[in-house]
Amino acid sequence: MEPLQAFIADCRGRAAQCAHAAIAVEAIAPVMHRFMREAERFLKPEHLRADPDHYARNAVYIAPEQDLSLFALVWTPGQWTPIHDHGSWGVVGVLRGTLHERSYVRVDGKTGDAEIDLKPGGVFLLDPGTITSFVPNPDHIHRTGVPDNAQPVVSLHLYGRNMDSFHIYDLDARSRRRVNVAHNES
Ligand SMILES: [Fe+2]
Repeated sequence: MEPLQAFIADCRGRAAQCAHAAIAVEAIAPVMHRFMREAERFLKPEHLRADPDHYARNAVYIAPEQDLSLFALVWTPGQWTPIHDHGSWGVVGVLRGTLHERSYVRVDGKTGDAEIDLKPGGVFLLDPGTITSFVPNPDHIHRTGVPDNAQPVVSLHLYGRNMDSFHIYDLDARSRRRVNVAHNES
């Protein structure tokens, strides 16, 4: 089995054995950490495509069962996600550059899509080899990207579902809505 396929199979097997998202990310994070040391050798040129208009999401693997997906994200300086949550667990590893993450905490005490009050939380600077992870309920609300004048970033994102949509938040409207997110096929 090729190393990339072996990595995916290992992650799938671990996720399948874990009843809870928090246990899954604990089991998968060390696998991702090891894989990051080798990933440059296994990623293909199509996984490293950038887009001048927005950060690029290059699919590496999407499970037919829709219960796992792996994307290589390529960030040009100045490209950021909106404030969002994933509704899923995720494990993220940084391959090149320093990925910035800004977290938000929901303080309105509700769980719906309206009357949302967000408070800015911590800021994380994630260097190559760093692994970060999240679990839903409560939602992990964050914004990720690369500041102007920084180096480009490549990061690997493994999710517990096909990450083809997520919630984006509107601070002024105090609301969130689910949007589809595009990706490049590999
Ligand atoms: Fe995210």
